[in-house]
Amino acid sequence: MLSKKITIAIDGYSSCGKSTFAKAIAKEFGYIYIDSGAMYRAVTLAAIRGGAVADDGVLSKSKILAMLPSLQISFMYNTSAGRFETVLNAEVVEDTIRTIAVSNLVSPVSAIAEVRTKMVRLQQEMGRKKGIVMDGRDIGTVVFPDAELKIFMTADPSVRAMRRYKELQVKGESISL
Ligand code: C5P
Repeated sequence: MLSKKITIAIDGYSSCGKSTFAKAIAKEFGYIYIDSGAMYRAVTLAAIRGGAVADDGVLSKSKILAMLPSLQISFMYNTSAGRFETVLNAEVVEDTIRTIAVSNLVSPVSAIAEVRTKMVRLQQEMGRKKGIVMDGRDIGTVVFPDAELKIFMTADPSVRAMRRYKELQVKGESISL
């Protein structure tokens, strides 16, 4: 057990097991686990629901910017499910943000500078009290450059493909490896 609470930043490539590892160490140390990717997914879900995505998948940046100030994103521990769940404007969206519709759009949404600024600010606020494990590609560099512990994860591409494949299969998505 760590005597002093610290910030643990986990960075790395997708589908390497970052979140699985982050959740395990958060549980071990009694730390709060923040899934930064889930925050970008929540913004993407809000964009889809708010009509900021045309039928051809083109994003309306102005609509996303208009809805951004009112978006409230937080995490809540669900004791019966034994997991932290993403909450968007008081609604638990943990499963909805993992669908392929959201996955397909999260990259361009998270590339919007204003979206990143807001998420980074929120993440830094969430980490102010330390005792936190956060994963995501810019966590160790941009969000918590001074984190006491930084871990960068990678894995063989075949392992990464298999992880994502199984993850989507469980959700009933029909995809090939
Ligand atoms: O980790 P996850 O796959 O859920 O992240 C979803 C997406 O959110 C990533 O593919 C990336 O486009 C974006 N993301 C980001 N910065 C982070 C975490 C995620 O841009 N810190």
